[in-house]
Amino acid sequence: MCTAPLTAVGRSVPRREGADKVTGRARYTDDIAVPGAWYGRTIRSTIARGAIRSLTLDPAFDWSRVVVVSADDIPGENVVQLIRDDQPVLAPNGGEIRHKEEPILLLAAPDRATLEDAASHIHIEYELATPVSDIGSATEVFSTVDIAKGDVASAQREADLVVEREFRVGLQEQLYIEPQGAIAFPEADGTIRVIGSLQCPYYVHRALKRALKLSDQQAVVVQAETGGGFGGKEEYPSIVAVHAALLARKAGRPVRLIYDRHEDLAATTKRHPGVIRHRTGVKEDGTLVFQDIEIVLDGGAYCTLTPVVLSRAAIHAAGAYSCPNVRIRARAVATNTPPNGAFRGFGAPQSLFAAELMVEHVAERLGVSSVDLRRKWMLRLGDTTATGQVLSESVGSELVLDAALKNAPAVRPSDRPTVRRGRGLSLVFHGSGFTGSGEKKLQGTIAFEALADGTFRILTASTEIGQGTKTIFCQLAADALGVGMDKVDLAPQDTSLVPDSGPTVASRTAMIVGRLVQDAATEVKERLKREKAPLRVEKSYIQPDSIHWDETTYRGDAYPVYAWACTIADVDVDMTTGEVRVSDLITAVDCGKALHPVMAEGQIEGGCLQAVGWATIEEIKMQDGGYQNDRLATYLIPTALDAPRIRTILVENPYSRGPFGAKGIGELPMDGPAPAIIAAIHDATGVWLDEIPATPEKVLAACASR
Ligand code: MOS
Repeated sequence: MCTAPLTAVGRSVPRREGADKVTGRARYTDDIAVPGAWYGRTIRSTIARGAIRSLTLDPAFDWSRVVVVSADDIPGENVVQLIRDDQPVLAPNGGEIRHKEEPILLLAAPDRATLEDAASHIHIEYELATPVSDIGSATEVFSTVDIAKGDVASAQREADLVVEREFRVGLQEQLYIEPQGAIAFPEADGTIRVIGSLQCPYYVHRALKRALKLSDQQAVVVQAETGGGFGGKEEYPSIVAVHAALLARKAGRPVRLIYDRHEDLAATTKRHPGVIRHRTGVKEDGTLVFQDIEIVLDGGAYCTLTPVVLSRAAIHAAGAYSCPNVRIRARAVATNTPPNGAFRGFGAPQSLFAAELMVEHVAERLGVSSVDLRRKWMLRLGDTTATGQVLSESVGSELVLDAALKNAPAVRPSDRPTVRRGRGLSLVFHGSGFTGSGEKKLQGTIAFEALADGTFRILTASTEIGQGTKTIFCQLAADALGVGMDKVDLAPQDTSLVPDSGPTVASRTAMIVGRLVQDAATEVKERLKREKAPLRVEKSYIQPDSIHWDETTYRGDAYPVYAWACTIADVDVDMTTGEVRVSDLITAVDCGKALHPVMAEGQIEGGCLQAVGWATIEEIKMQDGGYQNDRLATYLIPTALDAPRIRTILVENPYSRGPFGAKGIGELPMDGPAPAIIAAIHDATGVWLDEIPATPEKVLAACASR
């Protein structure tokens, strides 16, 4: 590790883009004025399943001032580049429709009025088929994951008590502040430049190359200032960008394709809903004997990132516990809803919800405290996870449990007669960085330059989506170099300028890419002792020899390291209305090293609040394969008034390969609150809910049936 004194790392320095954001100077995609640009729009399926029988442009309408793009206008392959080639850029005439809001045609016009007018003169006739609307009736499987440790079958004989339970988790919308959007610029030499709101410039780059048949140089992707992502801008921006590019190419001029909130809610990806079944065997003294777990996630109509989401769900399914015999069988199925995709936590919140509540149920059956049971079961240094990974360093399970408990004052009863108060706790871990061999395959790369004027520049495709990438990278570089932060800057996130650092996902940016920044800056500092600026180094991720992962057997080191969190939730349950109000959250997080304490706390508070919404009020009602509440008036998320007091305790338990000891914590805060809240509702009311969100209807029904 670095020997120079830290002057930036560990301090809450002003964020790089903060002043621009608060003064309104920051330009988000829709703020970018492009003289002469046309407006784009997507014509979408109104049915959930079937085929397109006919597409008709009303001959009575004047189409001369409108550009229409269909599947026939796609110069490359009609495929959204991702894991599997199942999703078309546009459904072709005569082709299959697999979900409501599936893109069929694209329109562009010089003004919005013409655009809307044109849209109303398109007639699509369908051949209807019966949609598959839920997990129970799904037959098509996108992917499966099987994890086996020890021997569950023979361990069953050793158990004195076996507890079985089924849990359900619901859809959730990412609800980034800024909806999806992109502007495409066609250039005379065949280059298409797209600027947009996105997390992963090189994902979009690959998608553009494939659908528009462009070379590496002809596709240029630039990230505009981006108002949040939370996974929702991991894969979906590829669709928006390709659509905008197709329109721009045909129109021969720039086209802006910017979703309003309604379209964004109706058409874009959500968190995977799922059903998780647990069978847990224990000895009389509470010793954990076996865990038998089945996970089914609903992938929606196309594969998107579902296999990777399922993988993370499965690997985290046994929870932060050490068990000699574990069987995890996971599968993701297809239904005729809009595709589900990446959302902060990426499968882990779903499976950890079930794992944590199982601890509660087993403790209740044994008649012991669930905190004591967690202490007995928890993974500690040297223990092995469900995939057989030996935890060799930075295991914060006990540290976060102790820290949270120490900081939780006693619960005081409510002074309102109809309100019951309760407290619940959860203990979770979350793998930082890509799963398995992901980082090795990806080989994320950054460049680092010492410029002639004595300043330095970081070149990376890692994006700022509100989480602090720009600030943290500059802090890391400044301290590695031993210079002030004013000497370090970042190149724009533009694929024609920066190397592919990998996507900004999976709690990997600060830890994996940040370490590359630190190492590159250290190398430049050394070289400057003998050489003169300007000079440039590139650094790519190299998998340490000690990390082993077998993708076929799902054995080995699933993640480079884990971050840990203990969350204590206090709730007020109104017994007359069933309303659950989370009043207080205490969360202790082992982050390795807090590179920027205020932003680390911000990440944790934001993630916790998203989890509070998922656990209590965020509910999507389905109707005929579409979302009924696809507006902000009806899709409710916690506001400032609903937010609990959140107390964050940062526990620093350094990781040797993280930058200055840091571990990724972007997603971890999403994992703990939901099970803690359900346990708190039980503490308050005596009823167990096995399904979230814990809406007033469900709470009242559970209390009534007791
Ligand atoms: Mo994320 S859910 O890994 O963008």
